Amino acid sequence: MIIKGGITITADGPRPADVIVEGSTITAVTEPGKATDPGPVVDAAGLWVLPGAVDAHTHFGMPLGSGISSLGWRESSEAALLGGTTTIIDFANPAVGESLPEAVAKWRGMADGVILCDYGLHVTVTDIADDRLAEIPALVSQGLPTFKGFLAYKGRLMLSLAEMKSLMKAVHQAGAMLLVHAEDGEMNAAAERVLLDTGRTAPPWHPVAHPDDSEIKAVAEILDLAAATECPLTIVHMSLGQSLELLKKTRRNQGRDGQFFGEVCLHHLFADAGLYEGGHEAALAAICSPPLRATGNGDELLSGLAAGDLDLLSTDHCEFPLSVKSAAAAGGFPRIPNGCGGVAERMVVSHTLAVATGKMDPARWIETCCHRPAELMGLASRKGQLAPGFDADIVLFDPVAEYRWEPLGFSDRAGSLWAGLPVTGRVRDVWLRGRQVVAGGQLTGDQPGGQFLPRHL
Ligand code: URP
Ligand code: ZN
Ligand code: ZN
Repeated sequence: MIIKGGITITADGPRPADVIVEGSTITAVTEPGKATDPGPVVDAAGLWVLPGAVDAHTHFGMPLGSGISSLGWRESSEAALLGGTTTIIDFANPAVGESLPEAVAKWRGMADGVILCDYGLHVTVTDIADDRLAEIPALVSQGLPTFKGFLAYKGRLMLSLAEMKSLMKAVHQAGAMLLVHAEDGEMNAAAERVLLDTGRTAPPWHPVAHPDDSEIKAVAEILDLAAATECPLTIVHMSLGQSLELLKKTRRNQGRDGQFFGEVCLHHLFADAGLYEGGHEAALAAICSPPLRATGNGDELLSGLAAGDLDLLSTDHCEFPLSVKSAAAAGGFPRIPNGCGGVAERMVVSHTLAVATGKMDPARWIETCCHRPAELMGLASRKGQLAPGFDADIVLFDPVAEYRWEPLGFSDRAGSLWAGLPVTGRVRDVWLRGRQVVAGGQLTGDQPGGQFLPRHL
């Protein structure tokens, strides 16, 4: 197959080029008109040719009470493909008493044969007993080189700083990377207690139980711990300009390239805390942790991302129908499942609000959404680039289409942060490993099925 006449967008910049695909692999990216191919010709005139996007942070089918997050693995992966994302990295979360390999087997059991895009798994660690930490090296050899620890969610997932230090040492020794949810669980719990004791239980109080200072304290502490243990660290879903400043300072002072990384998610860039005052439904839709922050933080984070001071633009896709959040809210805001959707929207919304506005150039956009997540998370040789030898994960993107964003049929309009947003840019066609999975913005029904991707840092 040859994709002819488009503008390829890579981390090196936009350029007119033809892309040749043989089987499941890109075999050449050439000057326009230089190559011929006996196979099908795809006319990409007027379109951008992007690498299939890589989302390093999703929660597609997390068991939760009687339900699951994000409508499950199949629907979420359909949303990913329709949104131009061909690879996601989700999380295997061990239940209490479960070993890390058992958790991985259980999560693969949920995803394999169901998920339609390619995927990897980070492994969450909530128990740092010696025999748990001893499981880490074997997982790294099996292609699971990234682990997540929480300083938040006291009494459930939270690790103390001393426990986090042990985890960081084990992760570093195994040649792996730690992802950290940086909010101070003690501070959040204390703020929540005061609210509940004074009867302030409605959804708009959620952000008050997640104060800015809690994230700032946790970010500072985790950067210090990473410096002390030399553990490679990605701080996930950073939501404050001040957190970014702390990361920049550490990078400057430590002078250690390749150890401290930052992720920002779509909702923290382009939505703000005003939604908590926008009525019951808007407040519910915006319940996530860290919460949406005051206006201004998103702009600071976007400038940091554009300048290279943050590395990844992810989604933390963890969508719940409004009805689920609403039913839980009756028991007070702490009962509401946390999370927002975004996997279908990431490329179009970030193109609209960052690229089309001139705040981020197209090359940097592709670097943060495709190339860098693949590189940082151990998929550097297969995903996130338009180059010979890479998987033929390719997106044809119309950069001038203008319309209002409508959530996908199976998604929930009322639960979406993005419904009705005027957008610029449309994902038109998508190939996964050389098979066309989206044509003209619709699933083809010819999905090859998602593969589990072993990753190596
Ligand atoms: O609100 C969020 N972020 N839900 C997903 C779990 C997490 O902490 O990433
Ligand atoms: Zn988190
Ligand atoms: Zn998450």
